[in-house]
Amino acid sequence: MKKTALLLCSIFFLNISVSIADEGMWLLSLLGKNYEEMKQKGFKLTPEDVYSVNKGCIKDAIVGLGNEGRPFRHFCTGEIVSGEGLFLTNHHCGFSMIQTHSTVEHDYLQDGFWALAKDQELPNEGITASILISMEDVSAQVLAKLNDAMSEKERDEAIEAISKEIADKAMENTHYTAYVADMFNSNQFFLFVYVIYKDVRLVGAPPSSMGKYGGDPDNWMWPRHTADFSMFRIYTAPDGSPASFSKENIPLKPKHFLPVSAKGIQEGDFAMILGFPGSTNRFITSYGLEETMLANKLRYDIRSVKIDILRKEMASSQKIRIQYATKYAHCSNYWKYSFEQNKALKSLNTMGVKKQIESDFTAWAAKNDPKYKDALSLIENGYGSRQEYVGARTYLYEALLTGPELPYFAYQCSGLIGKLESKNQEEIKALAEKLKVAGSEFYKDYNPQTEQKILAALFEYAYNTMDKKFYPDFFATIEKKYKGDFQKYAQELLSKSVFATEEKFNAFLEKPTLKALQNDLAMQAGISIIGKYREISGLMRENIDNLYKGERLFVDGLLQINKGKVLCPDANSTIRLTYGNVRQYAPRDGVDYHFYTTLKGVMEKEDTTSTDFIVPQKLKDLYQQKDYGNYTNEKGEIVTCFITNNDITGGNSGSPVINAEGHLIGLAFDGNSEAMSGDIDFEENLQRCINLDVRYMLFIIDKYAGAKNLINEMTIVH
Ligand code: ARG
Repeated sequence: MKKTALLLCSIFFLNISVSIADEGMWLLSLLGKNYEEMKQKGFKLTPEDVYSVNKGCIKDAIVGLGNEGRPFRHFCTGEIVSGEGLFLTNHHCGFSMIQTHSTVEHDYLQDGFWALAKDQELPNEGITASILISMEDVSAQVLAKLNDAMSEKERDEAIEAISKEIADKAMENTHYTAYVADMFNSNQFFLFVYVIYKDVRLVGAPPSSMGKYGGDPDNWMWPRHTADFSMFRIYTAPDGSPASFSKENIPLKPKHFLPVSAKGIQEGDFAMILGFPGSTNRFITSYGLEETMLANKLRYDIRSVKIDILRKEMASSQKIRIQYATKYAHCSNYWKYSFEQNKALKSLNTMGVKKQIESDFTAWAAKNDPKYKDALSLIENGYGSRQEYVGARTYLYEALLTGPELPYFAYQCSGLIGKLESKNQEEIKALAEKLKVAGSEFYKDYNPQTEQKILAALFEYAYNTMDKKFYPDFFATIEKKYKGDFQKYAQELLSKSVFATEEKFNAFLEKPTLKALQNDLAMQAGISIIGKYREISGLMRENIDNLYKGERLFVDGLLQINKGKVLCPDANSTIRLTYGNVRQYAPRDGVDYHFYTTLKGVMEKEDTTSTDFIVPQKLKDLYQQKDYGNYTNEKGEIVTCFITNNDITGGNSGSPVINAEGHLIGLAFDGNSEAMSGDIDFEENLQRCINLDVRYMLFIIDKYAGAKNLINEMTIVH
């Protein structure tokens, strides 16, 4: 009897433990709790050197990159490295900005870009850079407004109201932006106050052959040889406050910037990363996992069709390559991720891990507060009731809505239908002018022949593989009028639609007619796809309150079970810190991976038959002449990349890897495929963070680009 009780205890306290060594995207204001462990791992500073509201500290050098309109959905991270607002991020983070400035004449994607003086820096409209002012646990204030008798809807409304009140108060008489973020599935709440800068200029980027070296084949893989960095600068109004681009603006004077360490790394060295991880799902149940795996599989299959076409099209012309570069990168990154994640989830039996946690939870819940008893059945029913729609929604989104572009673009112009019906000439004209502007952005990165191929292939693929029950209505037209010939349909759409080219679109906007819009094939497809997508999404949301309630109680229960331990909430685009060490790993039997790579590997991987492995002649010359400056390791090698066991995810890209003294040693840019399940279950022995070594970056800026101005601007510690 005693033995059994003991055994049960050990199950509860060992198996359900959701946090293990090195796992954790920690909240900066609570670092005191991690301090002892950080010191053990080699950290030489104090928590106040990382986060303090009273003095300049490391958090003041960390930049969350966002878009105007949704500045808190940080797509990447940057770090300030000079007293004049110069910051570093990844090449793949700056990619769309570099692409926007690229033309066939000035191909910065291909050739790189270096501003040798500040007046050459290039502004990027719509890009925001947030820096954290302060954060605070406001759970008590929020929870005081909630009670168990509330429905989920009432609960959400109460949370929204009090969150707004708290944020408004924090912003009063400041130029700050604040919001309350929800943690642990709505069981805890934190206020974040940021200053958001709006003038962010491109300063430097290596050619893609270096910044994106390895392309898709190397993406999500170690060993890696990518110089994944680009450089930007934040500008402010003359008084230091945030302002949109203006010639009068001045470089930001930051409260803190990171010195750059050229001292290098040794295995076991302390390493911490601060940044903005986007989302993880570590508390997901087996039911949710099943849904994720199905969506992953379909996403991978559908995107494979698109990627095949895009690769051929981009190889056929420089113009198309530039036009589709960002779209391709977005599509292919999570295409490969989806595939690798399913592979890792299967090989690591993550489903089994989740089921074990659930059965332990059930045993615990039976003996505790009855409110936890139904958590898992609420979740099971919640996912069960939407199971049949998951596939349909993925097809509608991936293949029809975001596969080709014209139907959705046409749909975005559908407001014109109402205006034409109302016959209000002034309003028609005003909207037509607005649409012209939207069109000039859209058509800049669009080629009609490429679109025709993608549209035909993806519509046909969806038609042949998705459940007929969920077809959008316009498929019936293709069946009847075009006898299921998707090539013919796509050809007709591209030759007849007013949206097919910018010329046709602008000509149409000069004299728009209702009839032409209503009969337009792209418009018909767009409206039909959106209609179906909304219908399916609505059906999937029918039971969502119960599902959310189940998940909230489940996570609350796990917090109770693990009381006394420091747990870490899922990533949600708020600033976090992860600490660990430089560490090698063994991906599979008989294979040990070294913890760093060198320039020699860049040369070894060169493949003149592949666009992903081109080595610029100048880099080869520098390699041959060993013209390395003082950026080598003790063996005289240029270290390109290295790995650490930090816990990061998408959004962390560009984050600083910081040593025990608070100096910059690397830029985090990727994770390894063997642990692609990491967003769902952290794998201590396998999960690695892939980083660019700052010495490779300095070597490129100095020796390859000759941008001494940028070298001189940074504080480099030798
Ligand atoms: N997988 C990386 C991330 O999501 C992006 C790497 C970009 N490089 C590339 N070769 N596609 O942060």
